[in-house]
Amino acid sequence: MTQLEQFAAPGSEWWRSAVIYQIYPRSFADASGDGIGDLPGITARLDALKDLGVDAIWLSPFMTSPQRDAGYDVADYRDVDPLFGTLADFDTMLAEAHARGIRVIVDLVPNHSSDQHEWFQQALKAGPGSPERARYIFRDGRGENGELPPNNWESVFGGGMWQRVTESDGTPGQWYLHIFDATQPDFDWNNEEVQEEFRSILRFWLDRGVDGFRVDVAHGMIKTEGLPDYVPPADADSMGGGQADVPYWGQDGVHEIYRDWHKVLAEYDGDRALCGEAWLPTLERTAEWVRPDEMHQTFNFPYLMTPWDAEKLRSVIRESLDAFGNVGAPSTWVLSNHDVVRHATRLALTVDNPQGEGIGPNTAGKPDPVVGLARGRAATALMLALPGSAYIYQGEELGLPEAMEIPDEYRQDPTWFRTNGERYGRDGCRVPLPWDADAPAYGFNETGRSWLPQPSEWAQFARSTEEADPTSTLALYKELLVKRREFGFATGSLVWEDAGVDAVAFRRGDVHVLVNLGSAPLPLPADATIVLASQPVEGSELPVDTTVWYTRG
Ligand code: GLC
Repeated sequence: MTQLEQFAAPGSEWWRSAVIYQIYPRSFADASGDGIGDLPGITARLDALKDLGVDAIWLSPFMTSPQRDAGYDVADYRDVDPLFGTLADFDTMLAEAHARGIRVIVDLVPNHSSDQHEWFQQALKAGPGSPERARYIFRDGRGENGELPPNNWESVFGGGMWQRVTESDGTPGQWYLHIFDATQPDFDWNNEEVQEEFRSILRFWLDRGVDGFRVDVAHGMIKTEGLPDYVPPADADSMGGGQADVPYWGQDGVHEIYRDWHKVLAEYDGDRALCGEAWLPTLERTAEWVRPDEMHQTFNFPYLMTPWDAEKLRSVIRESLDAFGNVGAPSTWVLSNHDVVRHATRLALTVDNPQGEGIGPNTAGKPDPVVGLARGRAATALMLALPGSAYIYQGEELGLPEAMEIPDEYRQDPTWFRTNGERYGRDGCRVPLPWDADAPAYGFNETGRSWLPQPSEWAQFARSTEEADPTSTLALYKELLVKRREFGFATGSLVWEDAGVDAVAFRRGDVHVLVNLGSAPLPLPADATIVLASQPVEGSELPVDTTVWYTRG
């Protein structure tokens, strides 16, 4: 029996209960010293993840890419970008992770490729009506000379969703669709060559031994037939999470694709899994992604988007357990990722900040960092008490806040450029991790280089600092993960308890979980014995913005 087999509970599918740690490779650890993290950097730091106690890692894209959207613009789906290393480095990283009982999920980006992908280059050359163009979404423009885009859709990153090409004879030609940046043309998923190519890409990584895929923009791959006009409401979040009936989000046709992929994964041993990135308006719609013959998991974005509000949290938890339970899938839980403001900042913002807007020097409503960190810790201590699988984003175990003061000249998110600086975008949650308070680039590498500047006050969040402090956020995460496993919290059900309007309260077996989201301390039962707390609890009252796990008697 391999170490990986020993690690999994016999007879259970690992993804139903796993805590999965998202690695954003360019910002995790940089072995080469060029200022951008890489695969050898990850391998060298796997012991820290083992020590943290996670079950699996998900790696954001490291495939060949011109990096116009930090690797979410893939030019070759079967190779590693030299920035991150080589395929051999990947194999080593995978083997070393498996040797530690850590599963590995890779990011698959099927909605669009890079404009540098061989197929797109062929499409440009081949001209209108060709089979090469049919792999993407090329259309003639509107207007007398085709000078207007085929419809009025707006890119997630700002500006229009269509780009006009110059044909090989030098004349202005057709337009192609790009939900994201103009360097990210959308595939036409009705095209059989595209479908076959992605089956083959899945097999390429499955054969190498990956445990699954996080599927990028899983809700965008099919567009409404005829591509009808649509303008999103002004206050819509950019990924479409709050909106119903958008012609490029959540179309029913996507489910056929996942049923097909489910069969490909089922040919392999070891419970390989698909996790969909699907921003949808309701939990019922979200749960459709994980019906028994489709994906295995999907991110619970309605949970991530819930503000620090007891009533809203109680309802989203209840609705999540119902919606996923109804299709026989575990709920997932997530608070942070590389596309949203870090939750140790987000949960204390004082004005709305729709997804994709980001925070910069001029943003209103910046939070009190002490309140933010307290809420961030309390939110995680709640999340890790819930049944199902949970996602953790690199750096949240250190309590990292959003980097809010990145100078304009360092910004890299295409959102910033496509909106002419109106939206800061996502750079603030992507800053390289601090490992060592006293080393160059806080130990991210040995040279001190860093593709985004690290805030000067981050020594306090460095792993070396937190490892030496039993009250640190790192110590809390480790304790949460040990006790979550010990109490079997990942499976089973919860029983709601009533602790007033400003609390979230439930019982998991003998352990009670209580979160104080109000503005005054909450009484604890006289016979409560505290198992763990997200902040120090003295006496018989639970401070505000604090979560406690306790037993009675
Ligand atoms: C997903 C990724 C995001 C990327 C976009 C386009 O939403 O998480 O980072 O920009 O897809 O690929």
